[in-house]
Amino acid sequence: MIDLETIVGDAKASFSAALTPADLENAKALFLGKTGRVTELMKGMAQLSVDEKKSRGAAINLSKQAIEAALNDRRQELADAELQKQLKSEALDVSLPGRQHTQGGLHPVSLTMERIEAIFGSMGFDVAQGPEIETDWFNFTALNTPEDHPARSMHDTFYVEGGTESAPNLLRTHTSPMQIRYAVQHVKKHRATIDAGHTMPEIRVIAPGRTYRVDSDATHSPMFHQCEGLWIGENVSFKDLKFVFTDFCRTFFESDDLVLRFRPSFFPFTEPSAEIDIQFQTGPLAGGWLEVAGSGQVHPNVVRNMGLDPEKYIGFAFGMGPDRLTMLRYGVSDLRLFFDGDVRFLSQFQS
Ligand code: PHE
Repeated sequence: MIDLETIVGDAKASFSAALTPADLENAKALFLGKTGRVTELMKGMAQLSVDEKKSRGAAINLSKQAIEAALNDRRQELADAELQKQLKSEALDVSLPGRQHTQGGLHPVSLTMERIEAIFGSMGFDVAQGPEIETDWFNFTALNTPEDHPARSMHDTFYVEGGTESAPNLLRTHTSPMQIRYAVQHVKKHRATIDAGHTMPEIRVIAPGRTYRVDSDATHSPMFHQCEGLWIGENVSFKDLKFVFTDFCRTFFESDDLVLRFRPSFFPFTEPSAEIDIQFQTGPLAGGWLEVAGSGQVHPNVVRNMGLDPEKYIGFAFGMGPDRLTMLRYGVSDLRLFFDGDVRFLSQFQS
């Protein structure tokens, strides 16, 4: 006769070995199922006497109860394990720092450009864009720049393919070509008015954008920004230039005490000409001067190349450096930092 304890032991062992509820149900069938070992024992009792049946039956029942108890324990264990697994996978660690949504920002020079456009916009200036690859005509010749002018030399200008042998195309060295491009369009638009002998509406425009020169140090970069300004009318004087530019700078830097210096200078396309310097208010260069613009009364030859009569129309132009305005505004001493693309530097400038 098979020992009941052995069967109970076997049942417990195979229940423990079951790692899933399905395995456990299969193991149960081997002992308690229709043809299971305990069921078979019950069937075997048929030949026993009444007394034997009584004692044997009671013993088998105890074993059956022990097996059922083991089965229920194991069911509970598996269910607990499953729950633990689920809890673990869905665990929420509330002590973790939250995910940061880092927000991008505009480049400091872009912030400056936006400021420039807003301030000049409020003074009635249009904003124009032009090509960065220019012809020799717009960049030099139309701006009264003689063929032997040093700015044309290979040392300053990036020449590119296209154009003619004697007048190759180039990366614009300044935004001044926009004076001609914009004025020519303006004159075309008001041709009928001009031809009828009337006065055309004034030209009042700024032209911000990228410019290029073979140059690199703390205050020069091969790619840099300029913003051209042009105001042409019947009676626009150097005094207006001084007023407009000073007013712009004081608004830009939000400082009525800002000190500007108009230094006599030379440009082929203006006469008289001045360079404009601003004093650093903050940062390591406080007190020092930084040149921020070239300017002057537009030369009669340039007015003529715009398609206008220099006896009737006169005005001023300036070309300023937004990169340098940005240096002054934030007290940055090396302009190249703006173009290194280091996020640790750039992320300090949020509007
Ligand atoms: N284009 C000149 C430069 O880049 C600046 C300038 C613009 C000077 C307009 C006078 C008038 O240096």
